[in-house]
Amino acid sequence: MTLIDTLGRPLRDLRVSVTDRCNFRCIYCMPREVFGPDFQFLNRAEILSYEETVRLVRLFVANGVEKVRITGGEPLVRANLDSLIAMLAPVEGLLDLTLTTNGVLLANQAQRLKDAGLKRVTVSLDSPDDEVFRRMNDSNVGVAQVLAGIDAAAKAGLDPIKINAVVKRGVNDHTIVDLARMFHGTGRIVRFIEFMDVGTTNGWKLDEVVTAKEIIERIDAVLPLEPAEANYRGEVARRYRYKDGGGEIGVISSISQPFCGDCTRARLSPEGELFTCLFGTKGTDFRELLRNGASDEEISAVIGRVWGNRADRYSEIRSDETVGLEKVEMSRIGG
Ligand code: GTP
Ligand code: 5AD
Ligand code: SF4
Ligand code: SF4
Repeated sequence: MTLIDTLGRPLRDLRVSVTDRCNFRCIYCMPREVFGPDFQFLNRAEILSYEETVRLVRLFVANGVEKVRITGGEPLVRANLDSLIAMLAPVEGLLDLTLTTNGVLLANQAQRLKDAGLKRVTVSLDSPDDEVFRRMNDSNVGVAQVLAGIDAAAKAGLDPIKINAVVKRGVNDHTIVDLARMFHGTGRIVRFIEFMDVGTTNGWKLDEVVTAKEIIERIDAVLPLEPAEANYRGEVARRYRYKDGGGEIGVISSISQPFCGDCTRARLSPEGELFTCLFGTKGTDFRELLRNGASDEEISAVIGRVWGNRADRYSEIRSDETVGLEKVEMSRIGG
């Protein structure tokens, strides 16, 4: 079954956020002034149980989803995440099961996640410089702890491992080349992400964005690069290969070169709200359906209706007005 939206895009990819909590306070995502000690996170009863999540994922897969990415917040702070992975891995038709994490708790959990059926991981690391990294995550966690998580993931066979780095001008852009160098020749794929105006709290300004073009130029000047073909239609990152055979990097240019035309992604929040765009303002409540005894057919019908009506292309129509909209926080619906 393939669902097509109003712009001809199929539903293929579901990002499942399992918690709105995180052990980091990245300045571009959960600024401490907003996400402080008094911030009201979701309580347990509000969040979907693993059984509820798995039921929804099955129905999304029946409606064409092939790839599931577990996100948060930080997914590894949710208790027994490996048991969710173990329930999702056998779902027939699910071709790719992966996870985005900040890596802090990965060293402890990598092997367990692999054993449960996780295929690969993407780990966020914004700078190889300890001081710069701490300034980005605002949580007093150093680079070594994340590297230990990445190593454990490699040892467990959770590859290919991708490294996500958000670039914010004046904060970490001077360490772009060092980050590329750190993973050059290791088989890990660093993807540099343009700082985005997600949510309403990160104080986004256009002049803090370093464009993909500039990122590539800076790396290419030191480690020569050539463009590489996309792995699949709608791949978010644009790929570049090192001319010396040292592997590849990617750039994610949501601001300077939007990629909405091929966007096949839906996002499920921890409390079961479905968003059809990262920059969505309003979702569709699936928890109520689940808890009110809706049948599989009824839930499938809602999935079909929501995707069939989808017209989102936020990054293509971004303007001074859209930047100020009441958008969902990325810490609730994941990257
Ligand atoms: P692969 O499955 O490894 O190809 O991963 P991916 O390309 O889907 O990448 P990932 O989920 O790691 O996304 C990387 C980053 O790109 C996210 O953390 C977001 O910052 C950004 N991103 C992902 N999807 C979207 C999207 O649909 N729109 C926008 N604007 N940004 C996105
Ligand atoms: N701009 C770009 N990427 C972001 N992420 C979180 N907030 C932003 C933002 N404002 C990315 C993180 C992480 C993923 C979960 O989302 O880098 O890799
Ligand atoms: Fe946490 Fe990831 Fe957001 Fe950083 S970007 S605060 S690690 S959810
Ligand atoms: Fe997809 Fe929305 Fe991102 Fe465009 S802005 S690529 S529609 S999630």
